[in-house]
Amino acid sequence: MSLAQKHILLGISGGIAAYKTATLARLLSKAGATVKVVMTKGGQAFITPLTFQALTGEPVLTELLDPEHEAAMGHIELARWADLIVIAPASANVIARLASGRADDLLTTLCLASDSPLALAPAMNQQMWSQATTTDNIASLKERGVMMFGPAEGDQACGDVGLGRMREPQDLFTDIENHFNTGVLAGQKVLVTAGPTREPIDPVRFLTNRSSGKMGFAVARAAVEAGATVTLVAGPVHQDTPRSVKRINVETAEEMYQAVMTEAQDSDIFIATAAVGDYRIANKKDHKIKKTDGKLHLDLELNKDILASVAQLDAGPFTVGFAAETRDMEHYARDKLVRKKLDMIAANPVGNGKGFDQPDNSLHVYWPDGEQEFPVMHKGKLARHLIDTIAQIKAS
Ligand code: PMT
Repeated sequence: MSLAQKHILLGISGGIAAYKTATLARLLSKAGATVKVVMTKGGQAFITPLTFQALTGEPVLTELLDPEHEAAMGHIELARWADLIVIAPASANVIARLASGRADDLLTTLCLASDSPLALAPAMNQQMWSQATTTDNIASLKERGVMMFGPAEGDQACGDVGLGRMREPQDLFTDIENHFNTGVLAGQKVLVTAGPTREPIDPVRFLTNRSSGKMGFAVARAAVEAGATVTLVAGPVHQDTPRSVKRINVETAEEMYQAVMTEAQDSDIFIATAAVGDYRIANKKDHKIKKTDGKLHLDLELNKDILASVAQLDAGPFTVGFAAETRDMEHYARDKLVRKKLDMIAANPVGNGKGFDQPDNSLHVYWPDGEQEFPVMHKGKLARHLIDTIAQIKAS
């Protein structure tokens, strides 16, 4: 499972094991994750922020009320940024503060402000670990969905032997990998196109269509939730980039073709949700076309078919097309499935307030020896059903 593009917030509280977290930060960065480190005062007593800055290439954050940091990425934004928060070492003190919902420094405030998964790697003396208060705090945090990575058993820095050691960096790295390794598309690389394309007529005008990007962005989001590493090639739309997605913005069908062909060879699944302009202007003008009394003729020429080009690649990805139809949906969708040599096609009725720019949609999905219909529902939910179907058919 690749951690590429994953956003990991590494919290470091006060404990001698903090020096081992440097190795964990290095392993995560090497695996392609973006790692941002937040340190408590106690953490800084054991290892310096500079060490983590050098290892992650990111500024290390220590203060809650830091005007410079709030101007760049505020603590609320940072809380939303993380795909996973890992506190290693998690001292008895930080565990107690988290259990009681305190927000008295940057790290505990971030945890309280975030709905990202939180994992703790406890590290403390074996007596502190077995205290009833610690046991109660751990039980209450677990009940709220907080994951515990450890502790391990063995020699302790204080000379004691027992349960309470922080797990070794390589073990914590595996715990983190396993966390991301649970969805139906875990470890797979998914390439998605979304939105419309714009075909310029002159410097101020263009041909386009009504696609908002909602469906394609929902598909990208659902693929991330299913554990995939996702690249999204997006036409001009006003949609927020889903968390952990690598987004490539394009404008014309030709730009979308170039971006997709560069990424496709390295993808396991390609999902073509974009409404690509079939034609571009053959006689595009360098200057604004002036109004005249007569008729204006625009010559159109065919754009390359991105979906068909990907489907033709040797050892290319599992290729899923969309079909936007105003009539005879099954006939046209099945025709595209066969003609473009696709693995699957998701057909949706469009026009008359359906499909384009709507929050809801319906899909009828066809593959060579099967089909599945999904009634009208929110595009987010629909995208999750589509991803499950793709995972199931690809694996069969
Ligand atoms: O973006 P929204 O507002 O949420 O709307 C979603 C949607 C209706 C745009 C989406 O659900 C959808 O149907 N997308 C495909 C639209 C489309 O262009 O369909 P088509 O039947 O014309 O094309 C068939 C397939 O070929 C599509 O996968 C398309 O991406 C692909 N194609 C088409 C032309 C081209 N030159 N290259 C392509 O890859």
